[in-house]
Amino acid sequence: MTKIISPSILAADFGNLQAACEMINASEAEWLHIDVMDGTFVPNISFGFPVLEAVKKHCKKPLDVHLMIVHPEKYIARFAKAGASVLTFHYETVENPLEVIELIKSEGIKVGITINPDIPVSVLEPYIDKVDLVLLMTVFAGYGGQQFIEESYDRIAELKEIIKRKNAQCLIEVDGGINAQNTSKLFESGVNVLVAGSAVFNAPNPIETIHDMLNT
Ligand code: DX5
Ligand code: ZN
Repeated sequence: MTKIISPSILAADFGNLQAACEMINASEAEWLHIDVMDGTFVPNISFGFPVLEAVKKHCKKPLDVHLMIVHPEKYIARFAKAGASVLTFHYETVENPLEVIELIKSEGIKVGITINPDIPVSVLEPYIDKVDLVLLMTVFAGYGGQQFIEESYDRIAELKEIIKRKNAQCLIEVDGGINAQNTSKLFESGVNVLVAGSAVFNAPNPIETIHDMLNT
């Protein structure tokens, strides 16, 4: 089973993003998670293209870009050009998810779809065999450092069941409140990609923490 840690740069020291990227390069993290927030879909603003381009310059790992923005369809080509390898949009933000999925695929990059914890997992069913990844938010999108919502395990099980029934190949990613305490249970539940912001970047030894998350 694929097991990937995707540390979220949102929790890094923005005064020294190069050092954060070098840590990621030296670590067992396979991806780097990039949270783009617009202050409209979510009540917080993070950063945009210039920061993404700067990270791309220093980071050798694929950039796993999580769009928390309205009208993501307007910016897909620019995110692809700025260096996204995986581009994930919120189901809640688009009128026609299939169109957005096709637009992202046409850029030659991986496509992900995501939902907040209050959206039924069943809404994803029509898209599951058309995406590379489904991201289940395990906190409400908007801020790092929140507490993992325990009901998420039921949602993961429901998603797994739909994936199996549809014989789909997509990866399952979770995001929010992931730390060394819940990592092994999440991998055992069938999650493939764990996003971790504060647990990695606030750790005394982030490289070791990433290693432990993969090996506990
Ligand atoms: C929340 C973001 C997350 C966040 C995770 O809206 O999508 O990726 O950075 O942060 P932690 O791991 O601190 O909960
Ligand atoms: Zn995220």
